[in-house]
Amino acid sequence: MNAALALSYGTPDSVVFGQAPSPRLKPGQVLVAVRAAAVTRGDARILMASAPAGLALLLRLTFGIFRPRQPIPGMLFCGTVETESPGLPAGTRVVGNTGTAMGAHAEYVAISPDRLVPVPDGLDDCAAASLLFGGLAAADFLIDKARVRKGTRLLINGATGEVGCAALQIARHLGAETTAVCREENHALAHKLGAFAAHDYRAGPPQGTWDVVLDIAGTLPWPLARNCVAPGGILLPVTATLSGILGALLRPHRSEGRRIFANTTTDGPDDIRRVLALYAEGALRPVFGGIFPFPQIRSAYVMAGTGHKRGSVVVRVAE
Ligand SMILES: NC(=O)c1ccc[n+]([C@@H]2O[C@H](COP(=O)([O-])OP(=O)(O)OC[C@H]3O[C@@H](n4cnc5c(N)ncnc54)[C@H](OP(=O)(O)O)[C@@H]3O)[C@@H](O)[C@H]2O)c1
Repeated sequence: MNAALALSYGTPDSVVFGQAPSPRLKPGQVLVAVRAAAVTRGDARILMASAPAGLALLLRLTFGIFRPRQPIPGMLFCGTVETESPGLPAGTRVVGNTGTAMGAHAEYVAISPDRLVPVPDGLDDCAAASLLFGGLAAADFLIDKARVRKGTRLLINGATGEVGCAALQIARHLGAETTAVCREENHALAHKLGAFAAHDYRAGPPQGTWDVVLDIAGTLPWPLARNCVAPGGILLPVTATLSGILGALLRPHRSEGRRIFANTTTDGPDDIRRVLALYAEGALRPVFGGIFPFPQIRSAYVMAGTGHKRGSVVVRVAE
């Protein structure tokens, strides 16, 4: 089958479009023909073995010490079930998350059916694949962790990438009053997606206080963020260093009732169903930074690795 191959860690342009054996099914798995797959900042980070400070060893322990254990990267995809399982007849269009097993940047993926969720009619393959990475993180951090509601004053640092575009839209749906932090050339996009105000980070840290600070870019550690978090408010470092995570775990409560909560996103099937429900309610729409034909997956990785893309990057695996 056609597949992206990352035989060693390297820069985003080291990923190769090539051939690999079709996956062998383990007991209980089904085969899915991939139709579209997201190429995320997370995928680029794994390819580059580049994690926030202090977490590089954990990344290598998870994905391979010297080289990627799984040479086919990719986690989030939309595809068609090839081998039937209870409740999922062959031909069902699904989205899925291979997680740390990866392998989604290929024509076929073997996966447990309980990691798959049927896609509603009307949501095309690329759009479905594009909603997951940002939608999962934004919904979890804003709804479950921060309990954002009508009138919450929210600062989103890194507002127009994949997680930011989803966070802006979900925040608007929840009734938050959001300030977006991104370069000025992206302010129009931020306003379109629901930002009430926008700030260019090149002009210095944002001035003011907010009930919730969602630090997607990872550039607001507590010593900087403390000036932005209102009394009783919360800092959510979506991208955190090891010391940031340990600091949040050991001392989650700071002065004036302020808190820090650092964690990973929950990304199981129920979380995916919630993202699809947000789409169905009209609260979440795809924002594409790029859609690439599968043979151009290297260009997709280059874009995903910049740290400045708009929304999601997707490869169209089946035309
Ligand atoms: N904790 C978790 O479980 C979890 C889950 C998902 C993602 N993440 C992490 O979230 C991070 C972002 O993901 P993403 O997909 O949204 O990235 P992305 O698509 O590359 O977007 C990056 C965003 O950060 C902004 N930005 C860049 N430099 C900045 C700076 N110095 N100050 C403020 N904003 C800046 C960019 O704006 P401009 O383009 O205008 O520069 C853009 O809006 C990644 O590190 C990823 O690993 C963590």
